[in-house]
Amino acid sequence: LLYFGSATDSPGQRERAGLDAAYAQYDEIMWKSGEFGQTTPTNGQKWLFTEPTQGDFNFTEGEIVASKAQKSGMYLRCHALAWHSQLAPWVETAEWTPATLRAALTNHVTKVAEHWKGRCYAWDVVNEALDEDGTYRESVFYQVLGDEYIKIAFRAAAKADPKAKLYYNDYNLESPSAKTEGVKKIIKLLRDDGIRIDGVGLQAHLVAENHPTLDQHIDAIKGFANLGVEVALTELDIRLQTPATPTNLALQKEAYKNVVGACVQVKGCIGITLWDFYDPFSWVPYVFQQEGAALLWFEDFTKHSAYAGVVEAL
Ligand code: XIL
Repeated sequence: LLYFGSATDSPGQRERAGLDAAYAQYDEIMWKSGEFGQTTPTNGQKWLFTEPTQGDFNFTEGEIVASKAQKSGMYLRCHALAWHSQLAPWVETAEWTPATLRAALTNHVTKVAEHWKGRCYAWDVVNEALDEDGTYRESVFYQVLGDEYIKIAFRAAAKADPKAKLYYNDYNLESPSAKTEGVKKIIKLLRDDGIRIDGVGLQAHLVAENHPTLDQHIDAIKGFANLGVEVALTELDIRLQTPATPTNLALQKEAYKNVVGACVQVKGCIGITLWDFYDPFSWVPYVFQQEGAALLWFEDFTKHSAYAGVVEAL
């Protein structure tokens, strides 16, 4: 592995979520303990923050985490250029023609990738373009441009930040499925046009009580690596039905061990990123009812048994 890291949010984002930003202990683990060699800004580089009104770019939020990463000598993964979610409202309300949206998307990808040029190990260029059956999600980009939007985004990113690895990133790619086949089609779509794609990001938002086996993970990762792209676990968390109990925490440990072990064992799986490490800062309870405790540190900063599972797998 090149890195084991954790995403983190800027203090402003945590405050807006009603979470106390002044956790000295959190910052100590995140930036100083040596636990993590890589980070991803959880929110600050998304369209909503980087181009809140058309043509009006703002890199403040994304810079908070990016500059700390640099100071701490960590790898930086950059996230995410073209995504249907956390879009600025103007993107969804404007009356687009293919020509105007092509121009707006090209401009967005270009300006954002240029801003961080040379500083990102990798960019998530397109995020979550697929439905579970492997067909394209009906985002504004797909509705107006069809699959051409994926080419537009990767072409612009390659031009703007030539040294960064360019990734397609999505969830539910951690065991073989129609969706993993859909990603293979995206790789072919780009390559047939001579457009560079370097990696596939497996978000790895998993479920403790119903997790894939080691072999399923290995098959999924190899399926991509065999095509000559690298693979990373980009947003790893493993949620459970709350409250946490010895039983579901043991399942969670096994699940972390499987997925981390698979990445370690397959050449071509180059890095692992937790989607934050501290349970109170996880997105899970906001989105999945009665689920949580998905990360490796509890609220009182004691560690989940899954931490040991990760160490065993590494
Ligand atoms: C989540 C963040 O963690 C939350 O803070 C935010 O409110 C919503 O987005 N897939 C992705 C991530 O690619 O960007 C998402 O992050 C989680 C799902």
